[in-house]
Amino acid sequence: MSNKMWGGRFAAGPDAIMEEINASIEFDRHLYREDIAASKAHAAMLAKQGIITREDAGKIAHGLDTILSEIEGGKFEFKRALEDIHMNVESRLADLIGPAAGRLHTARSRNDQVATDFRLWMRAMIDAIDATLAGYQRALAEKALAHAGTVMPGFTHLQTAQPVTFGHHLLAYVEMAGRDRGRFADARKRLNESPLGAAALAGTSFPLDRDMTAKALGFDRPAANSLDAVSDRDFAMETLGAASIASIHLSRLAEEIVIWTSPLTGLVRLSDKFTTGSSIMPQKRNPDAAELVRAKTGRIVGASHALLMVMKGLPLAYAKDMQEDKQGAMDALSALALSVAAMTGMVHDMQPDAARMKKAAGEGYATATDLADWLVRTLKLPFREAHHITGRIVAKAADAGVMLHRLPLAVMREIEPRITDAVFAVLTVDRSVKSRTSYGGTAPKNVRAQARKWLRKLAKEHK
Ligand code: ARG
Repeated sequence: MSNKMWGGRFAAGPDAIMEEINASIEFDRHLYREDIAASKAHAAMLAKQGIITREDAGKIAHGLDTILSEIEGGKFEFKRALEDIHMNVESRLADLIGPAAGRLHTARSRNDQVATDFRLWMRAMIDAIDATLAGYQRALAEKALAHAGTVMPGFTHLQTAQPVTFGHHLLAYVEMAGRDRGRFADARKRLNESPLGAAALAGTSFPLDRDMTAKALGFDRPAANSLDAVSDRDFAMETLGAASIASIHLSRLAEEIVIWTSPLTGLVRLSDKFTTGSSIMPQKRNPDAAELVRAKTGRIVGASHALLMVMKGLPLAYAKDMQEDKQGAMDALSALALSVAAMTGMVHDMQPDAARMKKAAGEGYATATDLADWLVRTLKLPFREAHHITGRIVAKAADAGVMLHRLPLAVMREIEPRITDAVFAVLTVDRSVKSRTSYGGTAPKNVRAQARKWLRKLAKEHK
């Protein structure tokens, strides 16, 4: 049997494999809400413009509402033979209201329909992700406030570098998530133009009111070029780009959680809620959620690359290639939302071992920079020279197998006779972090102020 939507010039139906490769209903069924909303907006506009009768528009709207509740009630039968969500909905509409259903597709094509539906879907997803990212920021800022004075080792090259506070470290991720949200917000702004009414590619001869449908669907304006409207997917590429960067940020904290919870460092503990055991090794407590967040980055970045490749070199306007835009994007954005939720849970759950952190912070001569700075300040040495002297003192401490603040003054004086015992005041990790009061620095009072600032900002957002 040939297709009832476009079968006029077709004598036969498709080969089974043609039907299989062509169908998108398995994934574009997720667009049902947007598809129905866009159809309702289109029908109302057609009636207002006198293109269809008010009576037909009424029947169409009513039929679409019925379909919506059928789908939401799990009573709708999606058919692969009907290819996609647009034809599944329209076909059911014909069953429900008869010939009036055939008027809905006036001055419209699946090309502007799918571009509209997908934008609406993505806009809602961006809003949902933004809300979860805000929750993640809140969890981080709360934990940062609680641990504004908890000293931990700061690393560069994963080598102990200088003491920092755990709160400061967590606030770094709050900043990253803030920029991630900014990228999603930017993508949302550019995404928010309505393709509806672009029809197949060239616009239409019917007197549409595209402003009306744009407004009804919450778009800022109709897209200005019909070819562009149906054939670009930059909104999806941009959103996936933002998602990729966000997921890479998450993967970094995930990796740190893996390191911190390893018995090798033992800096942080996750409870039973966010760990799993081993079926053979009874002592194990594995940070699976963190590992999975780290891994999901691959899927998210992969989807972004996949869509870029789909779009590369596609001539204008619509091509069926673009049907491949949805599956990866849907998978990637839900993976991101889940990852953010899991990270938020872990951030709430994790407890630093403050004693262990502090001990680790003092290892590796982490206060060597403080010693060099003291030489600069007290003895007015040029920093380069102070650095050299400190290096020699560190070597002595290493030879003796002691921490810097445990090295006898006499030994330091062998290298720089003007050093006094006042130096010991700057060599403890607490003094070190307290002294880092420059804007953006790790001093507990800075961290407390920054954490509070974020919490105030986040509280205001959701009013
Ligand atoms: N399922 C299609 C897609 O996702 C809808 C558009 C089909 N348009 C067409 N001219 N065949 O892209």
